[in-house]
Amino acid sequence: MTWDPVDVATQQPYQVVIGAGASRLLPEFLEGVARVAIIHSAGVAGRAAELATGLDAAVTLIAVPDGEPAKTPQVLLDCWNALAAAGFTRSDVIVGLGGGSATDLAGFVAATWLRGVRYVSLPTTVLAMVDAAVGGKTGINLGSGKNLVGGFYEPDGVLCDLDVLASLPAAELASGMAEVLKCGFIADPEILDDFEDDPAGALTAASPVQRRLIRRAVAVKAKVVAADLREKTSDGESVGRELLNYGHTLGHAIEKVEDFGWRHGEAISVGMVFAAELAHRSGLIDDALLARHRSVLALAGLPTTYAGRPWAELRTAMSLDKKARGHSLRFVVLTGLAKARVLAEPAEDLLEASYAALAEG
Ligand code: GLY
Repeated sequence: MTWDPVDVATQQPYQVVIGAGASRLLPEFLEGVARVAIIHSAGVAGRAAELATGLDAAVTLIAVPDGEPAKTPQVLLDCWNALAAAGFTRSDVIVGLGGGSATDLAGFVAATWLRGVRYVSLPTTVLAMVDAAVGGKTGINLGSGKNLVGGFYEPDGVLCDLDVLASLPAAELASGMAEVLKCGFIADPEILDDFEDDPAGALTAASPVQRRLIRRAVAVKAKVVAADLREKTSDGESVGRELLNYGHTLGHAIEKVEDFGWRHGEAISVGMVFAAELAHRSGLIDDALLARHRSVLALAGLPTTYAGRPWAELRTAMSLDKKARGHSLRFVVLTGLAKARVLAEPAEDLLEASYAALAEG
């Protein structure tokens, strides 16, 4: 098969390869390398061991907890100690295998070990493929907040092996699809058309439509980060990397007030409906585009309503979000399909009415 990779044209360009069996390309990145450390989620230990047997290098397998518990200072320290014990040098390579938490951690370990060693990312969820693996954000959490410590560090390459998605629960595939559909709304409406034509196929691991959608979403993110890797402040209609935060202002607040019991994509789905309500009430988008948010997200089995907590709680959580600049609230909103702007400090009654509309569905 021809892989047709997506180029990420940042200062240190790299490619994202997407397809069933893409992890078979890993040995090409590791030719002549003496030592490799595979930092992997515990849940994909079998896959990590399989990859290790195919490599012509001394491999250290470093298992980390599944999900956010991977991103702690203690786990980071354990990884550094494992590298020290393996005698890991500047010419050795770190491979990150797992969901976005494992790859965020592995990228940060690669960025900091001996001030930076080569890194290859193998994301194993749709969410990690279309979001965490592209754009160089790495980091860990502190007790006081998520991603408070981190840096930008780009991989040598990203291998999105769609075969691994077959073992994911349906809800996890749908959660990743929320970020794919976000890319449709903010930049590439063909994603929405393609998804609406075959939603079941889109949620079937390694299907042709799923590959197409993931590839298009990766291409959207690649273009955005190539233009604004470090997320400079956007202003009005000139929206840089902040564009990727569509649906995330309320989405992050829902994750927080729900004690991270919601999947990321589920919270972002509700957050996108909220942003669409806000844009509609501000006269920026029409009825049809507002309705399309609800219909396409519902087709993916994602939530489009929310009334879990009082508005005041969400409002406080949003103003404390680390992405708020100062304590002023900023929303990425659409002014049409694939057209966006930043709405800073919208009127409180507009926010409250948009939130109330989420309860109604
Ligand atoms: N997840 C949003 C970004 O990478 O900027």
